[in-house]
Amino acid sequence: MKTIKVNVSSSYDILIERGLLKTCGSIIKDTVKCSNAAIITDDTVNELYGDALDSTLRDSGFSVCRFVFPHGEASKCSDTLNKIYAFLCENSITRSDCIIALGGGVVGDISGYAAATFLRGLKYVQIPTTLLAQIDSSVGGKTAIDLPHGKNLVGAFKQPACVICDPDVLSTLTEEILSDGMAEAIKYGMIRDEQLFDLIASHNLSNVANVIDDIIYKCISIKRDVVENDEFDTGERMILNYGHTLGHSVESYYNYKTYTHGSAVAIGMKEMAERTCSGEITKKLIDCIKAYKLPTACDAPMDKLVTLCGGDKKRTGGDLSFIVCEEIGQAQIKKLPFEEFVKFIIETGK
Ligand code: GLY
Repeated sequence: MKTIKVNVSSSYDILIERGLLKTCGSIIKDTVKCSNAAIITDDTVNELYGDALDSTLRDSGFSVCRFVFPHGEASKCSDTLNKIYAFLCENSITRSDCIIALGGGVVGDISGYAAATFLRGLKYVQIPTTLLAQIDSSVGGKTAIDLPHGKNLVGAFKQPACVICDPDVLSTLTEEILSDGMAEAIKYGMIRDEQLFDLIASHNLSNVANVIDDIIYKCISIKRDVVENDEFDTGERMILNYGHTLGHSVESYYNYKTYTHGSAVAIGMKEMAERTCSGEITKKLIDCIKAYKLPTACDAPMDKLVTLCGGDKKRTGGDLSFIVCEEIGQAQIKKLPFEEFVKFIIETGK
């Protein structure tokens, strides 16, 4: 088993091993040291892995209850959160018990927020079941729900007690969901690690399974390093937003329906590379994005997309922070007054 230690305000381990989901009960018991575990998951993941997790937790001495909600971003809302609170009350969950988030980013984010707020906070464990959740959202303690006004507008920093990462569960993902996660993996290579980028670029969506354990380990290690330096996202952690400034605009322009998060980030990375990298690096990035069946462009007019960046929460005062990688593996944080950012994007576009 591989262990990645995260040293932050409340430190924890990320444990990576194939088959871990079915056997993790005793590890969780030793970590959280409590009697009752409330599993929170969605209907898709519950069908695949709910019973296996339930069994290993019971075998390790937990009393287990399970809350299942409909899959999808629409569930990451106050209505589901209130149902989770009611479920925790009805099952007499106390501050000495724990929540176990079993699923992708939506499950992890809303369960983590419930754990941050119910009874002013209780322990929670992340068991991410998508590539994106394994390498990004389950690590670093960002939890949130969406509001009708926008995504992730209510949230808290709440570090998990541990993260259980089982690469075996990726075998049940659709191609589209795997691609979604690979966009974030490409991002990690671009911002911090040329060797990781080359490893990803020398594979494609059909054969990446052969090296996915290595990719997961390297991506999580990068995220750990960044989060340890800037747990509360006031500086270096912004480099994780490479491709996200325009990417968020792409998602929002299409009402979060046409492009997955990863697809939108892929478009955002390519747009930024075209404006800031050599032709050779831009080509390498485009080839890599295409190898994972991700898009490099969309039909939305750039003047509309760039205006939507103004609503991005990375805008501080009149300035907008954005991430540039002139070389692979070397991210830099840039800041421009919003109007100058718009000018830069429009005037340097192809
Ligand atoms: N997903 C970006 C971050 O955790 O800061």
